[in-house]
Amino acid sequence: MPSNSQTKLPRKSLLTTSPNPTWAIPIRTTFRAALAILGALLFLIAVYLAQNRAQVSENYRASGDDGGGGGCNLFSGKWVFDNESYPLYKESECVFMSDQLACEKFGRKDLGYRNWRWQPEECELPRFNATALLERLRNKRMVFVGDSLNRGQWVSMVCLVGSVIPAPLQTMQSNGSMMIFKATEYNATVEFYWSPLLVESNSDDPVNHRLPDRIVRVKAIEKHAAHWGDAHILIFNTYLWWRRPRIKALFGSFEDEEQSRLKVVKMRRGYEMALRTWSDWLEVNINPNNTQLFFISMSPIHDRGEEWGKGKGENCYGETEQIRRVGYKGEGTDPKMMKIVENVLNDLKTRGLNVQMINITQLSEYRKEGHPSIYRKQWEALKEDQISNPSSYADCIHWCLPGVPDVWNQLLYAFIFQSNHTLY
Ligand SMILES: *[C@@H]1O[C@H](CO)[C@@H](O)[C@H](O)[C@H]1NC(C)=O
Ligand SMILES: *[C@@H]1O[C@H](CO)[C@@H](O)[C@H](O)[C@H]1NC(C)=O
Ligand SMILES: *[C@@H]1O[C@H](CO)[C@@H](O)[C@H](O)[C@H]1NC(C)=O
Ligand SMILES: *[C@@H]1O[C@H](CO)[C@@H](O)[C@H](O)[C@H]1NC(C)=O
Ligand SMILES: *[C@@H]1O[C@H](CO)[C@@H](O)[C@H](O)[C@H]1NC(C)=O
Ligand SMILES: *[C@@H]1O[C@H](CO)[C@@H](O)[C@H](O)[C@H]1NC(C)=O
Ligand SMILES: *[C@@H]1O[C@H](CO)[C@@H](O)[C@H](O)[C@H]1NC(C)=O
Repeated sequence: MPSNSQTKLPRKSLLTTSPNPTWAIPIRTTFRAALAILGALLFLIAVYLAQNRAQVSENYRASGDDGGGGGCNLFSGKWVFDNESYPLYKESECVFMSDQLACEKFGRKDLGYRNWRWQPEECELPRFNATALLERLRNKRMVFVGDSLNRGQWVSMVCLVGSVIPAPLQTMQSNGSMMIFKATEYNATVEFYWSPLLVESNSDDPVNHRLPDRIVRVKAIEKHAAHWGDAHILIFNTYLWWRRPRIKALFGSFEDEEQSRLKVVKMRRGYEMALRTWSDWLEVNINPNNTQLFFISMSPIHDRGEEWGKGKGENCYGETEQIRRVGYKGEGTDPKMMKIVENVLNDLKTRGLNVQMINITQLSEYRKEGHPSIYRKQWEALKEDQISNPSSYADCIHWCLPGVPDVWNQLLYAFIFQSNHTLY
């Protein structure tokens, strides 16, 4: 840490995933049902891909809507080994690297996960030019809003832009749920705001958010939006914290119990209500001439080895290779939730506001070797039975840096520069 960094990253607040995340259990039960439709799903995917391919070449110029990059679909493609251009920065040189993601520092020896370039089918992903992005962000705020996956992407972005700035000209401050990286020479900030369900919930505390009972105020977002509403570039996500069959929706407020009603709703219904609350807020409060909006699709997990032919009880621990099967989808990925996001974004578009989805799901599905596994800081001392069975505490949710989230940011970069927003 350079001497000028005003505050160190709060240690505890980087802890969002204990080795056994609370949402792990409900996911497991829904997996069974998912398994039943998997065959049908794979068939549909194959049909869809075939159609999509035909469409892409046909409407190459016209499909800018969907894929970005001047009409080509940037989200469909393959990983190509490239140790000349990648990694885009060095783990040890990133001033504000997170110990949750610094896999080499915590003992990982196979470092091939850093050397992969995403190759879209029809075009090239633009090079990430950190100087150009900083110029774009001069006197502006870029804010990532969401959960620990979005925070990982934020750390990646901080490392990417930080790689062209001398350490004394980078600062980090934290204030409540907000973490603020600043490139002082540019008066540009790249910030992260913790709100894992986007709307208000009892998990909003940046440190103590792991509560057994999840309560979500699906109709309330103002308190959060006050912190990021005037940003120039906003990047949202929300997914993993919803993964339980039901949630408790609170109508009313946390402060006034008398006036509040609690209703148990099916998760997807709660998810949709929350996203509608979020999109309604944007519709009323965001001027598209001033602000660019993005939504990062769900980040896949690799915590069930059976899904790619390993033994039961195994997971991403020990993985050094990618999944090669084109179109592979893990059972933790819920296409219905992705569909809900798509519908909400489409509706918002008809009302004049465009939120660009950055579709990172499929490209990340292949990267079972990209997770920290056991190579990250452990916040609590490991027990003997854990040490003898490393899979039991492997983190197969987040991603090592440098690594997969750098490519998410490259996609984001492509869209930031593609659109012709004036940004003033
Ligand atoms: C995301 O991209 C993949 C690969 O191109 C595609 O199969 C999937 O339908 C896309 N999802 C959405 C919501 O656009
Ligand atoms: C890249 O990988 C190849 C093959 O593994 C190796 O021969 C070469 O030295 C590597 N280059 C760099 C710059 O690491
Ligand atoms: C990166 O962007 C800066 C500022 O726009 C420009 O001067 C520079 O030539 C670019 N670098 C590359 C490698 O394109
Ligand atoms: C610095 O950036 C902020 C936005 O983050 C802006 O409000 C402020 O006016 C800028 N300062 C200068 C001196 O331009
Ligand atoms: C922290 O945020 C609060 C409001 O959210 C603000 O009033 C206060 O000035 C901030 N503190 C610092 C040190 O930025
Ligand atoms: C955005 O800019 C256009 C063109 O300058 C202008 O006509 C329009 O009123 C602006 N929209 C808003 C919401 O300010
Ligand atoms: C660029 O902005 C203009 C005016 O706002 C709009 O008419 C045009 O369609 C935009 N072009 C693209 C490619 O988005």
